[in-house]
Amino acid sequence: MNGVVLISGGGSNLQSIIDNADEIDLSIQCVISNKPSAYGLKRAAQANIQNCIIDHQLFDSRQDFDVALMSAIDEYQPEIVILAGFMRILSDKFINKYQGKVLNIHPSLLPKYPGLNTHQKAIDANDSVHGASVHFVTKMLDGGPVIAQKQVEINTGDSAKTLAERVLRQEHVLFPKVIHWYTRGRLKLLNDTTATLDGQVI
Ligand code: GAR
Repeated sequence: MNGVVLISGGGSNLQSIIDNADEIDLSIQCVISNKPSAYGLKRAAQANIQNCIIDHQLFDSRQDFDVALMSAIDEYQPEIVILAGFMRILSDKFINKYQGKVLNIHPSLLPKYPGLNTHQKAIDANDSVHGASVHFVTKMLDGGPVIAQKQVEINTGDSAKTLAERVLRQEHVLFPKVIHWYTRGRLKLLNDTTATLDGQVI
């Protein structure tokens, strides 16, 4: 299946997707970053994957940025759009256009801790477990149906950094697995709150 990957940063999730691409039946047509400095762009180049920058700072509004992003994506007509550490909120227009095709990985056990600083929030709340979720993207920020999660224990003395590192390692296992479910046609988004795996509501 053909896909486009959107990133904003280091791209370690992108790397795990690249490394597993054959196994998960994914052909990455292009990697798009909203940040010119994103290290993930180098990872794409090293893997001979087309990559481009659409710098959100060059646009007056979220809508204008999204129009440019959509037109870049549409050059490839991808069947899946993968948000791998993409840190921009997408407009309703974008979501409507690609609804059911967009998967995001988020570093918390959703519905806990949508948004930013999830690791610190879990530590501050004295949680014993934290983790990562993969979900379909809908109009509600980090609120689309969760497909799968990986849990990580929070250790005494964990900082947001040490915890984030352990969560990331799990993300690298979780995301390719879920993408593979999608590329094999096993995953569907039914509506804003419901997804199915092999026809069963998740
Ligand atoms: C990952 O932890 C990912 O879950 C998170 O950003 C990090 C990107 O790391 N995504 C979000 O917070 C989205 N709301 P990476 O660039 O090394 O893959």
